[in-house]
Amino acid sequence: MKLRLSFLLLIFLGYEKANASKPDSVYLFAYSTTKNSHRNGLHFAWSQDKTNWVAIGPEHSFVKCDYGRWGSEKKMFNPTLFKGAGNLWHLVWSLNDTDGAIGHVTSKDLIYWGRQSYPILNTTGPCLQPEAQYANGEYTINWTDKKGKAFTVRTKDWENFEAAPQRVAQPKSNYTIRGSQEEGTLLKVPYTLVENMINHQTFTLAKKAQEAERIALQKNLIKDPVSLKITLDPSKQKKISEHFLGIFFEDINYAADGGIYAELIQNRGFEYHPDDREGRDKSWNSYKAWKVNSTSDATFKIDSTTPIHKNNSKYAVLDIKKRGGALINEGFGGIPVTAGEKYDFSVFARSAGSKSSNLVIQLLGANGEVLGTTTLQKIGTTWKKYSAVITANQSFAQAQLAIVPQQVGKVNLDMISLFPQKTFKNRKNGLRADLAQVVADLKPRFVRFPGGCVAHGDGIANMYRWENTIGALETRKPQRNMWGYHQTAGLGYFEYFLFCEDIAAEPIPIVAAGVPCQNSAHHGCAIGGQQGGIPLDQMDEYINSVLNLIEYANGGVNTFWGKKRAEAGHHEPFNLKYIGVGNEDLITDVFEERFKLINNAIKKKYPEITVIGTVGPFNEGTDYVEGWEIADEMKLDMVDEHYYQSPGWYLNNQNFYDSYDKNKSKVYLGEYAAHIPGRHNNLETALSEALHLINLERNADIVTMTSYAPLLAKEGFTQWNPDLIYFNNTEVKPTVGYYVQQLFGHNSGKYYIPHNLSSTGNAYPNRLAASVVKNENELIIKQINLLPVEVKSSVGIPYAEYQNKTATLTTLSGDLEDKTVKPIISEIKTGKELELTLPPYSFSVVKIKTK
Ligand code: AHR
Repeated sequence: MKLRLSFLLLIFLGYEKANASKPDSVYLFAYSTTKNSHRNGLHFAWSQDKTNWVAIGPEHSFVKCDYGRWGSEKKMFNPTLFKGAGNLWHLVWSLNDTDGAIGHVTSKDLIYWGRQSYPILNTTGPCLQPEAQYANGEYTINWTDKKGKAFTVRTKDWENFEAAPQRVAQPKSNYTIRGSQEEGTLLKVPYTLVENMINHQTFTLAKKAQEAERIALQKNLIKDPVSLKITLDPSKQKKISEHFLGIFFEDINYAADGGIYAELIQNRGFEYHPDDREGRDKSWNSYKAWKVNSTSDATFKIDSTTPIHKNNSKYAVLDIKKRGGALINEGFGGIPVTAGEKYDFSVFARSAGSKSSNLVIQLLGANGEVLGTTTLQKIGTTWKKYSAVITANQSFAQAQLAIVPQQVGKVNLDMISLFPQKTFKNRKNGLRADLAQVVADLKPRFVRFPGGCVAHGDGIANMYRWENTIGALETRKPQRNMWGYHQTAGLGYFEYFLFCEDIAAEPIPIVAAGVPCQNSAHHGCAIGGQQGGIPLDQMDEYINSVLNLIEYANGGVNTFWGKKRAEAGHHEPFNLKYIGVGNEDLITDVFEERFKLINNAIKKKYPEITVIGTVGPFNEGTDYVEGWEIADEMKLDMVDEHYYQSPGWYLNNQNFYDSYDKNKSKVYLGEYAAHIPGRHNNLETALSEALHLINLERNADIVTMTSYAPLLAKEGFTQWNPDLIYFNNTEVKPTVGYYVQQLFGHNSGKYYIPHNLSSTGNAYPNRLAASVVKNENELIIKQINLLPVEVKSSVGIPYAEYQNKTATLTTLSGDLEDKTVKPIISEIKTGKELELTLPPYSFSVVKIKTK
């Protein structure tokens, strides 16, 4: 606290000093640097004499380029700043040396920057050295091609451009800023403009300092014993959402294939392709996870001449030269089998010769011992699905599957599959029982699916198209998972809806808003990033597809898609109530146009469906502001907010939603988590999330749904940390954060009871918080203590029926670094007051029941 105050004092003194000698106008120099591979965006320096420059920040990024991929793009070259119509500042810049688009963005005050756009000015090569001016109601833009040839175009609206007569470019300026020669735009501006920019930068710094705060506090900073008094005010009880806690399932970190989808065979359809990993892994192809046994001279090749289905074009041609040859699959790092358990094996096969052949199927141990076997008789000469059951005679975590033809000659094989019979709820083509159970044990009220980035995909062609994920497995269209692996679509929309039903959770499907991920690469589009949206003349087809998804979920069996659902085995509708359109998209004109088309079509045909919009990937900034503007203008039902923040952010933004307007769109916090350096989870991150959930629950009439992200991660196969549940082939490892989610899932309420919280002897009041909710026969009191000392807490219970009861107390506490903290459950007695000792760094939940 002391630190923070002295810091603010310094800022204040600095401000006063500057004020004392305030000039009327100064020079302002706008430039970008080569640092961070040109990714640091636009900087400003100011000067009274064009010699002594004061860099703001000194390298504060006032606006960054959002074009193209994270990591490789999002660069800003040669920015030019100028004033356009209505005194609006315009910035143009070059994006890279390949694309024919330039970057363009505007600002009223050089602090808040609006939506970026990337107009294409050159269809044959890059647009370099862009430079623009405004005069007589039109903008002229100069640029050069790769050979240095100059071009000029003009525009009135930044949408329609036409070639214009050559015009002399305004000279760029060069100044030495902090020892480095920089090229940029020189302007003369009122000093007040610069002053506001300096204040903004100072404010940003102060916020960063707050966000760096950690939960750990030195014990000796707390001088006096701390006691906490909580007084409930039942007269102010308010109804809150019954869907407060749910889950977000995305196929990231091998969450689906190799994860919760119980298929044990890797690359069952031979459809792995180097493109899945953008060519980075030469071994990632149709042969991945397959081999022939080394003791035979059997060979196998991949063919696609006469496949079982066009969506599954590859199959294996196994050539057996002498008996004993076999095709072997290693599973996803081994096939775990349990003694006595039954496994459903199936394969599409045809004998390539004129004779039928038998196939022996074996589960193999470490030394080739047979752990289970079955025989498929008389494989014919046309594609046919053969099935059999194998019972394992031993347990082994790393078995292999062998297909051993009993005759020499060629046999064609595809969709080779092995499932444990014991899946979650014993579903065929089902989910891994232990993992799905741990997920179900969260008691989630909804499941968001399939992403995340997977929903909008890396480029248009990679968008998740739900129709490709239903129907017979061999007809589903596998595709590149944008997290760098392969998606079989075996866990598709039908399985998803079924899982929701099995765990009594609302499905919340997310469809792309007609634009791919904001971090997309080009993938054949003229320009990269999100701007390569679905062409408008193809939007009807896309919108129909979205409407069809709703029909698939809810339509009667006499509708086209409802019939398909019934054919899959589910006659009754799934009763879909929500649909999300978009995933933390870059809010641009391209996005807005497509989003509106989709939303309006859904609302027209299915007015009862709640459409969830999107407001970008952060809790502030352009996408958040512009996304909310769209939501306000369209009076959207709900928007999806995302942010991954530090413990300090959660500590210092506890009132984030207190000022949200109840009459505006509801909020679904679709992705959040506490991140600390090293990106692991421990008690510190879990308590930060618990604190946030406490504050969200207070606002659960506005923030009606929340889901932590990401949910699942396979050890050794993660692209994103931290995650809620880690697993390997045989174990499931919930994190401390999992228990926080579970405590909220199991202790949600229909009503929130406002309360007054007062503490004594506590110099850190924002480190104690509580939430009290009520159901018909339950009163639930959650308390958090983020102090390094015990807190004596006393909660007055203003309901006679909850006094003098035996209640359950569940506590999470311990060392903040500890990754293994588990809930401790005990029984306690209530009186007129609930007296508790809250351990240092703890989250405690008391549930009092009348029955
Ligand atoms: O949760 C992981 C990723 O984070 C999601 O796919 C994306 O929406 C966000 O950026």
